[in-house]
Amino acid sequence: MPEATKSRIKRYWKIAVLANIKDDHQEKPDGVPPDAFADFDHIETIDSLRAALETDGHETAFIQADANLPYALKDVAPDICFNIAEGLGGDAREAQVPALLEMLKIPYTGSRVLTNGISLDKTLTKRIWRDRKLPVAPFQEFVVGDEALRPELKFPLFVKPAREGTGMGVDMKAIVKTEKDLRERAQYIINTYQQPALVETFLPGREFTIGVMGRADSKLYSRHPEWYDKDGFHRFPVLELDNSRSVTPLVYSQEAKSKSVDEEGAPGYFCPADVDPELEKKLKNFAVRAHQLLYALDISRTDIRLDEEGNPRLIEINTLPGLTPDYSDLCLQAKAEGIKYEDLILDILYLGASRWGMVEPREVAPEARAKK
Ligand SMILES: Nc1ncnc2c1ncn2[C@@H]1O[C@H](COP(=O)(O)OP(=O)(O)O)[C@@H](O)[C@H]1O
Ligand SMILES: [Mg+2]
Repeated sequence: MPEATKSRIKRYWKIAVLANIKDDHQEKPDGVPPDAFADFDHIETIDSLRAALETDGHETAFIQADANLPYALKDVAPDICFNIAEGLGGDAREAQVPALLEMLKIPYTGSRVLTNGISLDKTLTKRIWRDRKLPVAPFQEFVVGDEALRPELKFPLFVKPAREGTGMGVDMKAIVKTEKDLRERAQYIINTYQQPALVETFLPGREFTIGVMGRADSKLYSRHPEWYDKDGFHRFPVLELDNSRSVTPLVYSQEAKSKSVDEEGAPGYFCPADVDPELEKKLKNFAVRAHQLLYALDISRTDIRLDEEGNPRLIEINTLPGLTPDYSDLCLQAKAEGIKYEDLILDILYLGASRWGMVEPREVAPEARAKK
């Protein structure tokens, strides 16, 4: 792999990494679901991110994304924030930090308010995709629990919280085979997670997840312009999750996700997945379309499963994909193609920073410009 080109910046920055941290030993407050905070990060992930950002000469600080964040931002006065915060409560928690940063006019990496609000909501996301003809399984949102089931939804069905991540609310009981089980599960989700239950056709086929990075002009700002395709997007190699060997065969549940890659009960991780070139191209292009239709920025990861007939169906998009080295799906995908963690993180940084005028565009040879 070619060496990274020099960063096109005038000076080094003070970067604040913004995240919500979890402590596995801490007691959970009353009234939260049993798997609350599963999508929060461990402090080791923050340390890895900071170390990666510092390899290019920047100074970093970590700020916890809680109610004290507005004051901490004043104290730290960062040039830019590297945002991985999941947020606290409400109906669009992943949009809270971007909203605050927009208000304070502080540059940040990754998707903006609208995208993070919508992508957390799997029902809204699927409505947008379906409208633009991306393939999704039939679905229906249950707000109270006793809604009449639409005729296109045939058992077995899959029931999950509409607005969570990291497998929260997803275990073997998410697969329901009877009307009685459906009602019980929907009620459980609505009561426990205080949000609608999303009911979908159960997709019995293979499961893939595909990362996407960039935008039309990525090559002008990236340290690795060679990573990006003609349309400006980098498609990471397809990762297949083999759920059959997981503690929860058939589903990539919260329990399965919490295991390290080689641990007993973890799913099999295959990257690049053994898929025929036609399916591979389809999956990657669906992931790019999924990203574009939600106006996602810099980085995202889209989950796709095959239905009974072997057709891909988009499940959800993660616009704040996990970034824990050697553990998060996106990091496994980058590693599989020889992309170093530091280089991955720095490209996310410079793609974000370039939107705020903080990076000089690379000179493009006149003949390359003519072809554009
Ligand atoms: N309609 C479905 N059919 C079959 N499995 C599903 C379906 N929806 C979700 N799953 C399983 O549940 C897992 C978690 O669901 P997902 O929508 O990706 O939520 P999360 O945000 O928790 O990752 C998926 O990775 C997949 O294994
Ligand atoms: Mg998922």
